[in-house]
Amino acid sequence: MCGIIGYIGLCPEQNLLNGLKKLEYRGYDSAGMTVRREGRFETYKEVGQVQNLAGTVVYKEEFGIGIAHTRWATHGKISIENTHPHFSVSGEVALVHNGIIENFEELKEKNKDVTYLGQTDSEVVAKMFESLSINSLRKVLKKLVGSYALALLSKEGDYLYFAKNKSPLYIAKGKECAVIASDPSCFSGLCENYYQLDDGDYGKISLKNIVIYNKNHKIVEKTPQKLDFNYLSEDKSGYEHFMIKEIYQSRLALENIIEKYSHSEMKENLSKIKNYNFDRVYLVGCGTAYHAGLIGEHYLRENINIDAYCLVASEFKDSNLLVDNNSLCIFISQSGETADSISALEYCKEKGAKIISITNVEYSTIAKMSDINLPIFAGQERAVASTKAYFAMCAVLFILSNYLKGQNYILPLKTLSHKIDFGNDISLKKLAKTLAVYKNLFFIGRGVDYVTALEASLKLKEITYIFSSALPSGELKHGSLALIDSNLPCLIIATDERQFAKTLNNASEIKSRGGKLILFTSLFVEKDVEENFDYIIKITPLPRDLMPMQIILSLQKLAYFTSLEKGNDPDKPRNLAKSVTVE
Ligand code: G6P
Repeated sequence: MCGIIGYIGLCPEQNLLNGLKKLEYRGYDSAGMTVRREGRFETYKEVGQVQNLAGTVVYKEEFGIGIAHTRWATHGKISIENTHPHFSVSGEVALVHNGIIENFEELKEKNKDVTYLGQTDSEVVAKMFESLSINSLRKVLKKLVGSYALALLSKEGDYLYFAKNKSPLYIAKGKECAVIASDPSCFSGLCENYYQLDDGDYGKISLKNIVIYNKNHKIVEKTPQKLDFNYLSEDKSGYEHFMIKEIYQSRLALENIIEKYSHSEMKENLSKIKNYNFDRVYLVGCGTAYHAGLIGEHYLRENINIDAYCLVASEFKDSNLLVDNNSLCIFISQSGETADSISALEYCKEKGAKIISITNVEYSTIAKMSDINLPIFAGQERAVASTKAYFAMCAVLFILSNYLKGQNYILPLKTLSHKIDFGNDISLKKLAKTLAVYKNLFFIGRGVDYVTALEASLKLKEITYIFSSALPSGELKHGSLALIDSNLPCLIIATDERQFAKTLNNASEIKSRGGKLILFTSLFVEKDVEENFDYIIKITPLPRDLMPMQIILSLQKLAYFTSLEKGNDPDKPRNLAKSVTVE
């Protein structure tokens, strides 16, 4: 993944650092920066988060030109040698890269005389440059196979150079600065408009002008886009972490969704989908987005009499499912840039399927590649663990399935908004304290509650590093029950009256084997049944279809509080990144 930024203007060190902080969601294994001053490069590199780099940089208020990078390691260990920027053999050209160069071993073989300092594919590209010009860039790009967003700088000249293929890249010019970045959020406070680059684009940017060539080597004029300041999330607004701020922003996301999907533009999108001819629906996503897809699968199967299947994006192409022009493929992605989802989307497009996307970023690759995009209007999500986006994805899938059935979707969502339950902090913190000492945990549920169990388990794993496994309640006795003892608590999710008696039987099976039991429920629990549980967290009841959105909020908070108990940074879990742009 990684995030890259290039900047020309006043206070380059400070502005590059501000940008890196906004890009940190793309990886935080190490960070580096090169700024040119009087024909010399000043380079800083640090392992770990951007704040480590911030502490070592000498900030200057004068004019300058520079590039910077925040890394999520793919090739080569986490080390200073593998931290970008990388340099050409002569040291004249500096480069930062996001993506994967698939033929880098081959290119390395061809350049046998060169000494490489680290193991990255990116350094191989840097070493291919002798000097920096449009011609030399073009020559190098011709030899690359794979994905890249590149920013390059040389020891002379007014320009920063750039190139893009399958990794996001944007450029912008303000009154007194020029910027290249992996994400338009870096332009905030600097520029009002920006340009989105397409695959195959490359060029150069200075304070005076921008030159962009397309993949056919023709100069192109792009339409500027306005920076959406409402979407950006600049600070924690008084919360300790972005994650907890974003959990609470679920209500705001819901209000935005209700507002936007009451108006004609979104209704037209829904109506176009209704008019498509399709006899099966595939829902596709990764991680949390995949779990939202599973909720959507439940909604669609219950509401419209149609085959709906939800699959993990990385498995989609190999599952040999029938995909043709009678298929409706729904791609769910917060970022809209996830490589596994993009690859599955390309496959479905080739097969002639109709492509719908449900994304949080309207200018993203997935949104742009789809026939119809249904935005989730959640605003920027900064914490790596997705929370409000999951909630909002479920809400949009609720809308879609209700619309296809011809049912009102605004009223139920308004009810959810009025009765939304973020859980009782005292009880959740107490439970978090208990859970933090365990090494393993089971989450179980039936039907749609099993999907909630999957998402709750993922959230806990991501930010607490406690191993957890989610199982359908009925499946526990078919093997995993062997693990139950007093060291393995089991968290039961129950919101569906129809399944409750069976779930309680499963709880007894655990209890009689000495397991600790925790219940998250919106259902009425008899006094004698209550006694079986070590903890009960009660959630305000709502109609069944709304419960996946209602109950997940407390489970997200449980993961958050447990992460704090363990002394972790819930916003930046180890080894992960928010936007995963490699397959
Ligand atoms: C990464 C993130 C997850 C996220 C998944 C899908 O793995 O760490 O939090 O759910 O990508 O991301 P997307 O942007 O496609 O929803």
